[in-house]
Amino acid sequence: MSDTRHFLTLLDFSPAELQHIIQRAIAMKQEHRSGDDQRTFPGKVLGMIFAKSSTRTRVSFEAGMAQLGGHAMFLSPQDTQLGRGEPVEDSARVISSMVDLVMIRTFGHDIVERFAAHSSVPVINALTDDYHPCQLLADMQTWVEQRGSIAGKRVCWVGDGNNMCQSYINAARQFDFELSIACPPGFEPDAQLLASNSDRVHIEHDPAAAAAGTDLVVTDVWASMGQESEQRERAALFAPYQVNAELMSSAASGALYMHCLPAHRGEEISVELMDATDTVIWEEAENRLHAQKALMETLLLANR
Ligand code: CP
Ligand code: NVA
Repeated sequence: MSDTRHFLTLLDFSPAELQHIIQRAIAMKQEHRSGDDQRTFPGKVLGMIFAKSSTRTRVSFEAGMAQLGGHAMFLSPQDTQLGRGEPVEDSARVISSMVDLVMIRTFGHDIVERFAAHSSVPVINALTDDYHPCQLLADMQTWVEQRGSIAGKRVCWVGDGNNMCQSYINAARQFDFELSIACPPGFEPDAQLLASNSDRVHIEHDPAAAAAGTDLVVTDVWASMGQESEQRERAALFAPYQVNAELMSSAASGALYMHCLPAHRGEEISVELMDATDTVIWEEAENRLHAQKALMETLLLANR
């Protein structure tokens, strides 16, 4: 089990491996659009454990596995023994003895770590309270498709210092860009993570100052899954942190903006930007499919 590759954060792969996944994702997208048969993994099974809601992640993994010739199995804690207290470690041993890959969306990041430590097959983090690395594969693919390499570029995160923000910090390191983070005081990402990336990541509480001259502006909901009770209180505190045309006017000319979705129009992003005809947000969402097919291919080949 110890030599099994997992994808729990972007740091589990080298920068070169991440670049390879992005290039494969771009190539597999073209193959898919050309109608090529991509069923290179017949009989392979992906177990998908979802302790939180999902549209994009579930549809992209399930469709992606079918397109690769395999099968995806949806497992909700409510309907499995995981929800009745069977230990994560025991579940990992059993589930991984029957499937070829496992994907988990859950609350504590320690849950995916514990599962991976007891799994004989690769485990993919499909979002925890701390990280959402699959979304970053899609975001980086989208950037590369639109603009080429992101190395040396300047990226601005606007909003909560949440799982997406923390994944952008890891991405800054692995894809070699600068990151300015505009968040309300008290909503910064993890202090240790910030400290270990202080050479390329900094906090700037004023959103216009943080966005000034940047090439990519990224945001996400103000209250993540599990924080629904804080929604009203956060909406007031985060109001100055909306990504809108005015904020984009301080970014570099031709700057892109991204959002992992689902979005709350009129809160973290303006209606105008969401509904703009030239936004890359829909491409970004579709790229979840292609990026994760490339990720699954990489992990299945590594675990042969
Ligand atoms: N962006 C994202 O992960 O979307 P879902 O929550 O719909 O899976
Ligand atoms: N930060 C959001 C991302 C959703 C894809 C959440 O965790 O709910």
